[in-house]
Amino acid sequence: MGSSPGSIYTLTELRENVVTWRANGEQIGLVPTMGALHDGHLSLVQRAISECDRVVVTIFVNPKQFGPTEDLETYPRDNKSDLQKLAAFDTALAYIPDATKMYGPGFSTRVEVDGLTEHLCGKLRPNFFSGVATIVTKLLIQSLPDRAYFGDKDFQQLLVIRRLATDLDISVDIIGCPVIREPDGLAFSSRNAYLSTRDRITAPALFKILQQTAERAKAGEPCRAAEAWAKNELIQRGFTKVEYVDIRREETLESLDMINERSPRARVFGAAYLGTTRLIDNVTATSHG
Ligand code: PAF
Repeated sequence: MGSSPGSIYTLTELRENVVTWRANGEQIGLVPTMGALHDGHLSLVQRAISECDRVVVTIFVNPKQFGPTEDLETYPRDNKSDLQKLAAFDTALAYIPDATKMYGPGFSTRVEVDGLTEHLCGKLRPNFFSGVATIVTKLLIQSLPDRAYFGDKDFQQLLVIRRLATDLDISVDIIGCPVIREPDGLAFSSRNAYLSTRDRITAPALFKILQQTAERAKAGEPCRAAEAWAKNELIQRGFTKVEYVDIRREETLESLDMINERSPRARVFGAAYLGTTRLIDNVTATSHG
């Protein structure tokens, strides 16, 4: 293990490090983030450090994954605090590229993953997954990691990234890591910072209602009925708008009608608004081990 490498801002510096590490036979881990680091991100860094010799943590608010009416301008940014948090991890190198360099003049390539992106968040945020797929592909090519780490909270994103790595023959293990939650069950997210005091109290209901939905479906309630119950319950609890509560097959995101011992692995996915803050979460809904 080396000493603290700190932070870098250019692709040239990243490549110099990567060339040296690979020449030394060191294993590289990549943790892509948009900054505003919280315990969920830090758990990914911790896991990467436990499995790799060197870890690149990218901090880049990717403009290509925001829609025209979304929160690109207001997305929380605090590089100073992020770097302080990363200082605790002595083999983590923060890579903080500039958007004008990442997407230089004439940039016109997009990575599109079909199928998986037609459901859930893909339906409601048309450019989101191609924006994510494009930046993650670039980051994988730039840092040549052995492993790259993503949270299960963004489960659909994880599946999309696995798909693109397989389809584009990118030699990397894409590792999904468990959702990290506040003591009251709210999944850590940089966007939780937008919640008012009142909405912060309501927010953990999303997780609890998804859990109850999973239990209802596992007990034999038809999936459509369990989903309808959940949507109504979220509104009763104070959510402003429910985008979806969907029980789907874990591997392919296909819709399921019922859950039983013969069903493939399943998850309940939810997206709902508290005021203007959009929260997403998901829980397992598998009735067997
Ligand atoms: O999950 C995120 O924070 C982003 O979508 C990611 C993977 C860093 C790509 O910008």
